[in-house]
Amino acid sequence: MTARIIMKLRVAAARLATADVLHLTLVHPSRPKLPAWEPGAHVDLRLPDGKIRQYSLCGDPQDLRTYEIAIKREDAGRGASRWAHEALVEGAIAHVSAPRNNFPIRDASRHLFVLGGIGVTPGLAMARRLRADGAEIAVHFCARTAAEAPLLTELSEACGDRLSTWFSGEGARFDAASVGPYSQGAALYVCGPHRLYEAVRDAALALGWPETAIHAEAFQAPVDENFKPEPFDATLASSGATLHVPADRSLLDVLREHGKIMPSSCELGVCGSCVCGYTEGVVIHRDAVISTADRQDRIAPCVSRARVSVTLDL
Ligand code: FES
Repeated sequence: MTARIIMKLRVAAARLATADVLHLTLVHPSRPKLPAWEPGAHVDLRLPDGKIRQYSLCGDPQDLRTYEIAIKREDAGRGASRWAHEALVEGAIAHVSAPRNNFPIRDASRHLFVLGGIGVTPGLAMARRLRADGAEIAVHFCARTAAEAPLLTELSEACGDRLSTWFSGEGARFDAASVGPYSQGAALYVCGPHRLYEAVRDAALALGWPETAIHAEAFQAPVDENFKPEPFDATLASSGATLHVPADRSLLDVLREHGKIMPSSCELGVCGSCVCGYTEGVVIHRDAVISTADRQDRIAPCVSRARVSVTLDL
């Protein structure tokens, strides 16, 4: 994978979709069309300090005049969303990458979605496309109240009678068993807080869904408060060189320090841009982007580590 081009896009419209979700419409200041994208894709938004955050595109992929994203204000977060809410007013310039899709629509006979809160964004674009294509879909949307459910009107329009809403603060708490038993060829997509994903995944597995039919979009890798990083060695298969990774450094940092040109984007284990192969070793996977099957031979060096040693396919 290569680093993505960053475009300077103008905020054409900024509105609060709920009290804490900012909905932005972005345009190119001089070009009539933006790069094409498929439902499920996200863009990187570059912050003033050079860090990036990812936001799913929630508009219409047929209309390339604009990109639409929605940003939830996280007052307990690291400041990115607060900055976006304050700085990205109408007319402001946002530094945004070309789209990338880690959460594509699968080839399936039936598409079932469980969306939680701001997790609505990729699901909205995907549901719109699937309905337009006449595919069989069902969408569960969970939030505390209807007023706190971002893009609810747009999702209702996109899904029609295929939408079920669950508002816990209004007496309708989502039961993960609502995903129902697996039917051959179906795909289940989950997008929202990690605890929602875990509840849905556990319920789906118990109801006979195969792991390979369950797809998730994560904006944050699961955090294990008790994880204590240990030092390990990484050997490069191409040269045989062995690099030592201290407990307080990431594998990605050490690779770069030794001259390896490694792409990266989120450095949080969610975007997939740094992922590379490995051929030997016990890897401690700490990302939220590599599938269970691919974990046998793929590693995200921005967050993942190894027990004692690993041989990288680099
Ligand atoms: S840089 Fe995003 S997963 Fe590593």
